[in-house]
Amino acid sequence: MDLIEKINSRQANIGIIGLGYVGLPLCIAFGQTGFRVTGIDLHQEKVDILNKGYSYITDVKDEDIQFIVDNSHFKATTEFSSISFLDAICICVPTPLNKNLDPDLSAIEYVVGKLKKYLRPGTLVVLESTTYPGTTEERIEKALALTNLHAGIDYHLCYSPERVDPGNKKYTILNTPKVIGGVTNNCLELGETLYGTIVNQTFPVSTPKVAEVSKLLENTFRSINIAFINEMALMCDSLGVNIWEVIKAASTKPFGFMPFYPGPGIGGHCIPLDPMYLTWRAKEENFFSRFIELSQDINRNMPNYVVGKISELLNAQKKCINGGKILLLGMAYKPDVNDHRESPSLNVYALLKEKGAVITVNDPFCDHILDANDQQINIQSELNYEELCHYDLVVLLTAHSTYDFKRIAESGVPILDTRNAFNGLKTSHVTCIGDIIKETGPIMSETVLAGG
Ligand SMILES: NC(=O)c1ccc[n+]([C@@H]2O[C@H](COP(=O)([O-])OP(=O)(O)OC[C@H]3O[C@@H](n4cnc5c(N)ncnc54)[C@H](O)[C@@H]3O)[C@@H](O)[C@H]2O)c1
Repeated sequence: MDLIEKINSRQANIGIIGLGYVGLPLCIAFGQTGFRVTGIDLHQEKVDILNKGYSYITDVKDEDIQFIVDNSHFKATTEFSSISFLDAICICVPTPLNKNLDPDLSAIEYVVGKLKKYLRPGTLVVLESTTYPGTTEERIEKALALTNLHAGIDYHLCYSPERVDPGNKKYTILNTPKVIGGVTNNCLELGETLYGTIVNQTFPVSTPKVAEVSKLLENTFRSINIAFINEMALMCDSLGVNIWEVIKAASTKPFGFMPFYPGPGIGGHCIPLDPMYLTWRAKEENFFSRFIELSQDINRNMPNYVVGKISELLNAQKKCINGGKILLLGMAYKPDVNDHRESPSLNVYALLKEKGAVITVNDPFCDHILDANDQQINIQSELNYEELCHYDLVVLLTAHSTYDFKRIAESGVPILDTRNAFNGLKTSHVTCIGDIIKETGPIMSETVLAGG
């Protein structure tokens, strides 16, 4: 039976390497479709949790893991030797930046080392990790060719970027088109056949490199637009105009405008990192992207702007950051997930700590976070609404849906809202980023009042 038949009859053994935010939903998608899936990860602890039918990611439900485990459609392991039993392998390992902000492909290199050892003839290998253009060709195809494994002949190779958006209820793996580039036409056909079993639409492109750049374009587009709107927020701040009202008005245009929203900065494993992968590779060709550099600069500076706002708000109460009792709400980089990687909340926390603030941190989703010095941050998961009045300032950094914004506002505590989450609540104690702060007296936010 050839691989296409094996895939179509669900007899192909699928392997997912890297069982995180990307790999785990993929295991579920293939497992629920009827494939036997082997999940491979370095971490024994994660493997043990998953084999017991539990998830360690908020966005991935226990019952979904339980279902595929109970039906013998999923088994997790740390044994890379199981690669030799697989017909198709999706690589979903992390692609972070190193200390110099250069791409760190060590996880991909590690996996390639294991493929050299265990890959069996005819297997389909798909790289899903986000990476710089040319990785599939230069770091996988060429590396395996050194051990006489030739893509398109001895095995099949594709690149297909993952577009999963943790926490997104509307767009899932199923209804998000999957871009795929194969090293040969046959590789591409196999890739499309595989993903055609779990997505409504595949979108073939001519080469893996096109697929690699398409992913970086998507996330760089977001990063640049967020930077632009962040800069507009700073500009509106100095103009005395409410940025949120401006965005709302501009969004009524039915064509040619797409709203982006300001915030305390960007976070997660994608938006802050992916443009750096692109610009790093472009620099090798002596091409310097001013757009990317500028957007990184603006986005990375947003936590400083937030801390400046905090200082102004405390000053308006004749208080200061040093010794100021500040409650930070939300450490995750976006609402309703426990992912705090690159979260701007961490930068705000570090800057405030450096300045001597007495910080309390709340996040209902994140419980284990280390600060820049690898010290555990003490995080409360339950918000005590009765005690809010004891703080000098509450700073909303991530608008988790579990927060009762009305109750927080009713406490009367001064609030800095970096997400416009208190919009519509008529209170004089809420200042949104982009709002003017009165020099003296009670903190007023006329723009929020008017918008509410
Ligand atoms: N998180 C997202 O929303 C998202 C979306 C699209 C694309 N991506 C990309 O997908 C890739 C994976 O991201 P993620 O968010 O799933 O990361 P993650 O950190 O959540 O998961 C990665 C998993 O890989 C494991 N791992 C690390 N090194 C390994 C190795 N050498 N061999 C086997 N397992 C290893 C880790 O233990 C972890 O469980 C990255 O390239 C990322 O840029 C992420």
